[in-house]
Amino acid sequence: MAMLGVNVDHVATLREARRTYEPDPVWAAAEAELGGADIITVHLRQDRRHINDRDLRLLRETASVELNLEMSLEAEIVEIALQTRPDMVTLVPENRQEVTTEGGLDVVGQAERTRQTVERFAELDVPVSLFLDAEQDQVACAAELGATFVELHTGVYANAEDTRQVADCLEQLAEGAAAARRAGLTVNAGHGLTYRNVSDVVRRLRPHELHIGHSIVSRAVFVGIREAVRQMKDIIRSAEQSA
Ligand code: PXP
Repeated sequence: MAMLGVNVDHVATLREARRTYEPDPVWAAAEAELGGADIITVHLRQDRRHINDRDLRLLRETASVELNLEMSLEAEIVEIALQTRPDMVTLVPENRQEVTTEGGLDVVGQAERTRQTVERFAELDVPVSLFLDAEQDQVACAAELGATFVELHTGVYANAEDTRQVADCLEQLAEGAAAARRAGLTVNAGHGLTYRNVSDVVRRLRPHELHIGHSIVSRAVFVGIREAVRQMKDIIRSAEQSA
């Protein structure tokens, strides 16, 4: 079954709305584990608008499942990530003005910088995932740069407004996944996935990992994190069984 990475950034966003100590994303991660999360995902942004250095340190110490650190290529963050040694890192583009990550990393446009970063993590045996739009040239480049995983960006699919657009996005994602597998990469997917739209991604892409945050944390407001994670895992399991 696909592994579920639960992104707990959104819990920290709520904390930062009051610049206080609660709710604690470290507690959220423990609750997510109890609900069946296979991976805890966090994004340490340069502006620390949600997860901060203390959260990352405590999560590294306390998470008993894998810890996936999403991060930009910025030198300060790379140094912190190398010291933290998460179980994997996902390289993402970062723009200070954005509300959330807006598109895949342009690895073709910054191949050398990406390669150097991938190599630094490889020296520590930390596998690297590249968050990419499902474009053939980006996927081919990811394989050349030595990445282990690609995380295909599902945000455009999630925002598609009619059935035709949804079908086109799924087709492009499926082609991207096939190209990535041919190149020897392991395929993950994430961004904008919800209880309603995740099943088709599971059926068409058969991802190794899914990274989901906003929708799970939104449901957790009403049912609790443990139950929200359980429900997402049930949907993923059913989608795989019906594929
Ligand atoms: N994957 C990546 C690379 C992301 O940047 C994010 C957002 O932090 C997610 C997955 C999770 O997206 P969402 O919160 O929309 O589920």
